[in-house]
Amino acid sequence: MSDKSRSAEQSGSSEAQIAVHWKEEKYFKPPQSFIEQANLSDPDVRERFGERNFPDCFREYADLLDWSKPYTEVLDTGKPPFWKWFADGELNACHNCVDRHLGKYRNKAALIFVSEPEDDAPVAMTYQELYVRVNEMAALLRDYCGLKAGDRVTLHLPMTLDLPITMLACARLGVVHSQVFGGFSGQSCGQRIEDSGSRYLITADAYWRSGKLIDHKEKADIAVKTAEEAGQKVDKVLIWQRYPGKNSSPTAMVEGRDVIINDLLKDYAGQRVEPVAMNAEAPLFLMYSSGTTGKPKGCQHRTGGYLAYVAGTSKYIEDIHPEDTYWCMADIGWITGHSYIVYGPLALAATSVIYEGTPTFPDARRPWRIAERLGVNIFHTSPTAVRALRRLDPEGPAQSPQQFKHMTTVGEPIEPEAWRWYYHQIGKDQAVIVDTWWQTETGGFLCSTIPALDDMKPGSAGPALPGIYPVIFDENGAEVARGSGRAGNICIRNPWPGIMQTIWGDDQRFVDTYYKRYCRNTDSTDWRDWPYMAGDGAMQAEDGYYRILGRVDDVINVSGHRLGTKEIESACLTVADVAEAAVVPVVDEIKGRVPDVYVSLGSDAGDLEDIKSRIIKACDDMIGKIARPRQIHIVPDMPKTRSGKIMRRVLAAISNGADTGDVTTLANPDVVEEIQNMVQGENASKSSADMPDDIRNFGNND
Ligand code: WT7
Repeated sequence: MSDKSRSAEQSGSSEAQIAVHWKEEKYFKPPQSFIEQANLSDPDVRERFGERNFPDCFREYADLLDWSKPYTEVLDTGKPPFWKWFADGELNACHNCVDRHLGKYRNKAALIFVSEPEDDAPVAMTYQELYVRVNEMAALLRDYCGLKAGDRVTLHLPMTLDLPITMLACARLGVVHSQVFGGFSGQSCGQRIEDSGSRYLITADAYWRSGKLIDHKEKADIAVKTAEEAGQKVDKVLIWQRYPGKNSSPTAMVEGRDVIINDLLKDYAGQRVEPVAMNAEAPLFLMYSSGTTGKPKGCQHRTGGYLAYVAGTSKYIEDIHPEDTYWCMADIGWITGHSYIVYGPLALAATSVIYEGTPTFPDARRPWRIAERLGVNIFHTSPTAVRALRRLDPEGPAQSPQQFKHMTTVGEPIEPEAWRWYYHQIGKDQAVIVDTWWQTETGGFLCSTIPALDDMKPGSAGPALPGIYPVIFDENGAEVARGSGRAGNICIRNPWPGIMQTIWGDDQRFVDTYYKRYCRNTDSTDWRDWPYMAGDGAMQAEDGYYRILGRVDDVINVSGHRLGTKEIESACLTVADVAEAAVVPVVDEIKGRVPDVYVSLGSDAGDLEDIKSRIIKACDDMIGKIARPRQIHIVPDMPKTRSGKIMRRVLAAISNGADTGDVTTLANPDVVEEIQNMVQGENASKSSADMPDDIRNFGNND
């Protein structure tokens, strides 16, 4: 054993703490034209949001909203880590995103819908029209469904105007919406219906994706069945038709259960529903996210703090003005869409674009035609999309007509090379870029440059946002110094208004997942004793910029979306012949990471190709196509420790073409070589030191 690994073992530390070699990138300055018009150009802002002024600094965000009852206390830390924000105030999120803009912006577009078929003209919906539609939908939810404040309702909607209309109608009543990403399977949706205790499912018949009108309604039948088997009865399935008056799904309607929303709405034409004044701490929505164990976590977000935080960060980091046309190319079914397509932009009276389909349909220049036609000047996307657009059309964007003042990247680390391509080709050296690091749990951005104030550094998210105080801890809870070249677990020392309230129905899991590891004193009501652990490896450079290295747990970030390896393993294990399954992340040029599956089979397993296709089907059906494995390796046995644990770390190394390190202490070292020959063939393997940190450390917690 080398000295280095021996001392690492003695101090109980992991690879994550050992020096990360990475070249310092050169800075890019924000363009003067951007600085001149920016919402935030006051260099004192970090001072104003500094620890001395915490938590009162966040009044500045709360004051961007209309409160029907003003709050007096900013932060209540009485029961850590269940922080309360603006807790004696009352407000309504729908009023803040719609009604209050009618005076000044009644006839301005709130949302512009772009359907995937390019012959369809975009549909602009004014604030007035949004107000009318949301009121009618709220009347339907209240009077037809009998839904009231605090009830949960599951939405499984694709990217059309019906989705924000439904969300805002729920918010108007104080009903807690739980939107499930449209690409998730019926079973995933059913699980979330059960967990949230929803009696209604709101879905759609069909939507366009990559040139096909996809049957979405078929998933509703599976969702209802899954929920009912788990003990949650669904009273009604409410269906938005993609083309009102026409049925676009071949799946039959279920008599007495299924109803068409656009038909029903005729009964509520012209109705108005007073927005219900909600306590600031009332939950606004649930957003399910994958964790280390099998069951997805319902991240519960509050009304007041959440809306204040997304409004503030949309204004200062996204630099949204009411005059801007803003396009976030994410799906509303993820937190990015909730915070930065719907709630943040609409709270600021912006015009927010909703695109139904695939960015590269019918070709990779579609986004630039949309941007030009609508006059989009703020563009928001993921590294995965940047990589895909680059591969398909490396020189095209610079010759295309888009003109952005501001661009965002979110969801995964972006390689400096891809960043520079984004900057030069898509931004044409004219747009400022923000690389925003955050999570489903955090409601809004945590680290990013302030676009007019900070220079950009490719590959680094940037400093912390105003009012966010990060720290990097090593395995033993000691602080990793800035500029030390070492990485550790990034935590946020303080609460902030956008942080989730809890995991729906599971307070203990909330505490255990995010706070247990580094809590200094569980009896303390001082927030300083309760750092929030994000689950990401990170390092801080000398200049204070944070570089996020990826997950430190068993989560695979596919195209900026978290998938739990345990969820995928459970899906594989439902295939009859599969005895054991292990899922590991593999580096992918476009998607960042993709899952690779290893399975061992029971004694009289059948045809191997047939087993593989059943595994793929199980992943598609139980999670969604996003979880589809890159490769399935059927192995004679899993590499195991003497105590019988599967060594996922070894499999991850093999899948990524790296050396496996010392395996002599395993119970079955021979099998490693066998698997290696099978998967890597004759290819010489790379040193594991060349692997990204999340891959190198994968499975260390096993
Ligand atoms: C995980 C959160 C936040 C909305 C989309 C994903 C990774 C997110 C960045 C970034 C490097 C990033 C982290 C994080 N991540 N943004 N700018 N640079 N990594 O939300 O599904 O909750 O995933 O995405 O690993 O923990 P999510």
